[in-house]
Amino acid sequence: MANAAQKAHAAPESRGTPLIEMRDMSIAFGGIKAVDHATVDLYPGEVMGLLGHNGAGKSTLIKILSGAYRRDHGQIFINGEEVTINNPRDAKALGIETIYQTLALADNVDAAANLYLGRELKTRFGTLDDVAMEAECRKVMHRLNPNFRRFKEPVMKLSGGQRQSVAIARAIHFNARILIMDEPTAALGPQETAQVGELIKQLKAEGIGIFLISHDLHDVFDLADRLAVMKNGKVVGTAKTSDVDHDEVLGMIIAGKCPPGAIPGPGALSMAN
Ligand SMILES: Nc1ncnc2c1ncn2[C@@H]1O[C@H](COP(=O)(O)OP(=O)(O)OP(=O)(O)O)[C@@H](O)[C@H]1O
Ligand SMILES: [Mg+2]
Repeated sequence: MANAAQKAHAAPESRGTPLIEMRDMSIAFGGIKAVDHATVDLYPGEVMGLLGHNGAGKSTLIKILSGAYRRDHGQIFINGEEVTINNPRDAKALGIETIYQTLALADNVDAAANLYLGRELKTRFGTLDDVAMEAECRKVMHRLNPNFRRFKEPVMKLSGGQRQSVAIARAIHFNARILIMDEPTAALGPQETAQVGELIKQLKAEGIGIFLISHDLHDVFDLADRLAVMKNGKVVGTAKTSDVDHDEVLGMIIAGKCPPGAIPGPGALSMAN
């Protein structure tokens, strides 16, 4: 079974080295193994969906990658080379950016001010260089969302999808190679969800790899190339989205049952059960 699945996935010669690999990651809080020997990888231009019930360990796993938590065990490789990530600064220096569900925007200032929040451009007189920041902001936003026009308005006036594009612009502006999105469409309507889908396509085309955490199976099937399901801190399995269907993925999430089209992880129910 595993063999057939591996064959379906393999073609390693065409895949090359992953952009990122988290290998055998573990972290415990008190007695709880929040992440338990989890291995996931991500290729350039790929969207990897991370699924699982509440408390499965998804956010904790990506917080290790973003430097928010320090792991107890495991290694992280970028383009095949082991890297050290002990804090958010390390992660950012490696091109890893995270967009949390809250977006963490400054609501009462405009898109450009948000783009440069904490890293403002200054003129040679030491004052804020609003002209340069707005010009740069227009460039980045044009890349992501060519229809965006509301540069002069505080971001609180923008729609959810537009706010999302400002948050993404801020993340990628500083040369992100790996983007982590935790529930990016949870608070959005269908039209705005479609807009985020367009943004994600744009980022993929630029070779950025994306970890997409979502409870929404439809989003994952629409947007992700592959998916990994976690349960009790363990990876149940990893699959190309085209090799599994909704019911099979539900079975992975709920029962830890790994279907034939997926590569089982340490969290998969053993076949004897
Ligand atoms: N800082 C922390 N201190 C103690 N326990 C934690 C901490 N962060 C996470 N946990 C525990 O680790 C486990 C995994 O939580 P995590 O937030 O990673 O799950 P999740 O898959 O992201 O869930 P959700 O879908 O609800 O966001 C849970 O049992 C949680 O209670
Ligand atoms: Mg979470």
